[in-house]
Amino acid sequence: MKAFWVRTAGLGLTIGVLVSLMVGQSQGDVRTATYKGSKMCIACHKGIHKDIVNAYNMTAHSKALLEASAEGAIVADFANAPIKKDQVAWVLGIGKREQAYIDKDWKTLPAKWSVAEKKWTDLPVENAKEKCVACHTTGFNTADMSWVETGVGCESCHGPGSEHISAPAASKKTTIVTLSSLPKDRQMMVCGKCHSKGTDPSKKFPFPVLWDKDASGNLSNPKDFRPGDDLNQAFIHDKPTQEGQNQQFSELLMGKHFAAGNTCTTCHEPHKDTGQAHQLKKAEVELCLDCHKDTIKDIKTHQPTASDNAKCSDCHMPGTVRKMHTFMSKKSS
Ligand code: HEC
Ligand code: HEC
Ligand code: HEC
Ligand code: HEC
Ligand code: HEC
Ligand code: HEC
Ligand code: HEC
Repeated sequence: MKAFWVRTAGLGLTIGVLVSLMVGQSQGDVRTATYKGSKMCIACHKGIHKDIVNAYNMTAHSKALLEASAEGAIVADFANAPIKKDQVAWVLGIGKREQAYIDKDWKTLPAKWSVAEKKWTDLPVENAKEKCVACHTTGFNTADMSWVETGVGCESCHGPGSEHISAPAASKKTTIVTLSSLPKDRQMMVCGKCHSKGTDPSKKFPFPVLWDKDASGNLSNPKDFRPGDDLNQAFIHDKPTQEGQNQQFSELLMGKHFAAGNTCTTCHEPHKDTGQAHQLKKAEVELCLDCHKDTIKDIKTHQPTASDNAKCSDCHMPGTVRKMHTFMSKKSS
């Protein structure tokens, strides 16, 4: 009764909910299903999709949050560190660019490690459950700050799998979200759930949360963002800043690639091993020229002053540690 009233009150939200239900319906009900953990998925799929499972295990996603005791989890040098190694209970990031640490009380420790520079920089002490963990785990529940699996598991992108697990190929009807059949913007929002900078509508959390809203704007009953949902109902983007972390979707929204219908998986493999950095589908220059060869023959003809080993991203993705996904032509940036 209350739920009906709430839905009719907030028209924007109602449309969001209806669209997400429609997207969800054909592929099992993503709202009512529950999270079961990647181990379950892998048990069956290591037979059917051996390549996906093997490669996924090597991705940064699978190890986005590790126990300090896990083999090779900590990459920092603690010799002259502002924090003590034995304070570390949990590790954020496999150490591609940076690594941050959480203590046993789920507070972030006050320094993070820069991998390339081999040095420590200050990090504000935060309640990691409120500020960090949601995007480094699977099945995070804002209502009680719990989660089902550490790391970005299969269900972070494919949605909760309980229905699918009990009927994997129910009369040929797909019982789990297939991302390639989502509308392109919704597919990007699956990645954008974590690769975005901003806050939820309550402004308390730096990750998306779907709230019920009453007539006077009070928020209640927080729900996690799931594949097929509309990120615009659950998140307000901040303006990305150079070198900012986890904001690739916010950046992409600024340039022409998003409007032209490109998605994250136009350029990145979600879980297959390509042998390229950042799970890029191909070597970068080749990847860009696939679409831009009509106007650009090669880098040297395009920009005669470019160095011999220049890449497209050197000029079209500003930044060093992280490169911004704005893809502006130099004139417009
Ligand atoms: C009991 C075995 C089993 C389990 C457990 C299982 N799957 Fe599946 N899955 C299947 C089978 C069988 C298919 C159909 C394969 C086919 O038709 O190629 C499938 C298909 C899929 C597809 C592709 C759907 C399509 O239409 O192309 C995805 C994505 C998927 N599973 C993901 C998952 C995820 C994520 C989990 C864990 C939550 C999981 N599966 C758990 C057996 C399983
Ligand atoms: C649940 C949150 C979450 C979702 C959903 C998610 N990611 Fe990530 N992603 C992360 C985190 C956290 C890391 C960093 C892991 C680490 O470094 O240990 C990461 C790392 C990556 C990397 C590796 C970057 C590098 O430097 O090599 C790529 C590429 C990536 N994500 C792409 C995607 C794409 C594409 C999607 C959607 C299909 C997606 N992610 C969905 C949280 C997420
Ligand atoms: C909105 C989702 C989100 C939140 C909240 C979040 N992260 Fe992440 N984090 C990501 C994604 C996505 C990546 C990978 C992309 C990147 O590095 O830009 C990542 C990467 C990292 C990395 C690895 C960096 C690297 O590039 O090697 C560290 C360390 C990290 N996060 C720490 C934290 C800490 C500390 C907090 C809380 C203060 C936090 N994260 C909150 C999504 C998030
Ligand atoms: C970072 C997000 C992400 C994670 C994590 C993830 N997937 Fe996927 N998966 C995708 C996307 C996106 C596609 C669609 C591929 C495309 O559009 O090219 C996909 C496709 C698939 C498919 C369809 C087969 C095909 O034709 O590509 C299967 C099966 C699958 N994933 C299983 C899994 C399993 C099992 C896991 C965990 C071991 C997993 N995925 C983890 C994003 C993810
Ligand atoms: C047009 C191609 C393209 C698209 C679309 C694209 N990326 Fe990238 N991405 C790249 C390239 C190229 C790099 C490598 C830059 C470098 O060499 O450091 C990269 C790097 C990354 C990294 C590593 C950290 C960083 O920011 O440099 C992450 C994480 C990432 N992309 C995630 C995403 C996500 C999530 C999406 C969708 C919102 C996306 N990318 C869309 C081309 C693309
Ligand atoms: C799947 C096709 C595709 C791929 C791959 C691709 N692009 Fe694009 N790119 C486009 C389209 C479409 C546009 C928009 C053209 C327009 O609207 O004028 C565009 C526009 C651009 C622009 C011009 C933006 C402006 O402001 O005028 C730049 C720069 C650019 N891309 C760079 C890159 C780089 C660098 C890569 C590789 C990392 C890349 N593109 C990969 C399709 C692609
Ligand atoms: C040394 C820097 C540099 C490199 C490397 C570079 N570009 Fe550019 N690019 C520029 C500048 C500067 C402009 C603006 C020139 C103009 O608008 O006339 C531009 C313009 C563009 C545009 C928009 C205008 C057009 O010609 O269509 C696209 C698309 C583009 N570049 C793609 C690429 C791709 C793809 C690569 C890699 C193969 C690449 N660029 C490598 C500097 C560079």
